[in-house]
Amino acid sequence: MKIIVVGAGYVGLVTGACFAKKGNHVTIVEQNEDKIRALEMGKIPFYEPGLDQYVTEGIKHNLLQFSNDLAETLKTQKYDIIFLCVGTPSLANGDPDMSAVWKVIHCIGQNLMHNCIIVNKSTVPVGTARKATTLLNEILATRTIAVTATIASNPEFLREGSALLDFMQADRVVCGVESDEAKEILYALYKPFVEKPADIIDMNFESAELTKYAANGMLATRISFINELARLADAVKADIVDIKKGMGSDKRIGSAFLNPGVGYGGSCFPKDIDALISTGTQYKEEMTLMRQVKKVNDTQKQWFIDSIFNFYGHDILNKTIGIWGLSFKPETDDIRSAPSLDLINALIEDDIKIIAYDPAAMMHVKELYKDKVRFVKHKQDLLAQVDALVIMTEWQEFIDTNLEDFTHIKDRVIFDGRNCFDPIELHMHNLTYFCVGRNVYSPEWHEKSIEKRAEYLEQI
Ligand code: UDX
Ligand code: UDX
Repeated sequence: MKIIVVGAGYVGLVTGACFAKKGNHVTIVEQNEDKIRALEMGKIPFYEPGLDQYVTEGIKHNLLQFSNDLAETLKTQKYDIIFLCVGTPSLANGDPDMSAVWKVIHCIGQNLMHNCIIVNKSTVPVGTARKATTLLNEILATRTIAVTATIASNPEFLREGSALLDFMQADRVVCGVESDEAKEILYALYKPFVEKPADIIDMNFESAELTKYAANGMLATRISFINELARLADAVKADIVDIKKGMGSDKRIGSAFLNPGVGYGGSCFPKDIDALISTGTQYKEEMTLMRQVKKVNDTQKQWFIDSIFNFYGHDILNKTIGIWGLSFKPETDDIRSAPSLDLINALIEDDIKIIAYDPAAMMHVKELYKDKVRFVKHKQDLLAQVDALVIMTEWQEFIDTNLEDFTHIKDRVIFDGRNCFDPIELHMHNLTYFCVGRNVYSPEWHEKSIEKRAEYLEQI
């Protein structure tokens, strides 16, 4: 098929490159000229494993091309489908910013030259597809040529770091379609990406739009559930990893997305939970559970940061803290709503020295904090320069560390926000190790936290 994809962000570039991989002719239209220049040379503007090969291959086989002029592309090319993959970041009130989506819809309405299916893939509030249909028909009615545009909603469920796999072997494809023509075309297009046709699920516009939020809402709920439970496990001297095994072995529960840690981040969960809450407000639904999921996530980050301040009390002001992991999760350079930023802000507030390392995301953090954070080239380079180490992202290279290396840390203390290690092994190396929901193995955890907290509060 001939496909136009608008937006070369995470979703747009992965979508375009994967469709080209299966032999479709794809033109990706991106407003940012620098991104286009880089892409035409096969350079990806963000870190996503394997995507550069897909893009280079697509260009080589003349199946993937780029443009930064949507109107021109619409006027000069023939195409079967247009995919909208523009950003919908959060506004201050939690609503998604829809300005890019409407701008593109207007451009399509004014420049469409033949009948076409227009598929929205950006995460948008419920009701957008229906509104877009009305708007497009109004604009097309003012045109001299008679063309029809059929809207469809097709939310994405890509995870950063495994986006190609998630697209090429999709668990399911959700299609919000209200015309047989749109349904047929989307089924034909997505057939090569699913195991069986039944994995392509069609429903009405609103159901498809809400499915996206529902999926992220459910995944975030699982994370907040296990994080809250992990805090209780620490208080009652239980081990959250055992609990997860005992609970997750129940087929009704399963163990996916039940890894305790410092809380979820990224460009989607925080934004989509906010959007669910604000959609609820619009329709007079309290969305109590989503509000609590967000609250637990916020307190989880604070709980972990407090554990560092509690451990040191006032002494922390003269300490140098090492941070391993800045991206919101491994295999990405994305720091959008990364918990590491909350930690850095708390340390900077008290002028505490920070030395950080991340395999992919240091550049973005440097842009934000300039010289307030020092960086090192290799993970081990900071160990001997810091009093304590904090782990915020479970990159494999951290998990593969030789435990002996940690004995270089001045105070031999590690705060592990991603449970990368076995607490007992670290104690055998005479290291003080705090993690999430497994502090039953760290006697200091209980003594220190109560004693030092009182001391710290007295002095501030
Ligand atoms: C986007 C949405 O933000 C997210 O809600 C949804 O879940 C997935 O799609 P992402 O692909 O990460 O996420 O967005 P972003 O990285 O912001 O990329 C959007 C791209 O669209 C940017 O490169 C932007 O320059 C481009 N764009 C935006 C256009 O080309 N034209 C426009 O009119 C607006
Ligand atoms: C998410 C959804 O998974 C994806 O389907 C959707 O399209 C976009 O949003 P992504 O944001 O890339 O994808 O990351 P994900 O792997 O879901 O992780 C989100 C956050 O949750 C990360 O901060 C991660 O560290 C955290 N997480 C994830 C946990 O704390 N515990 C877990 O068990 C899983």
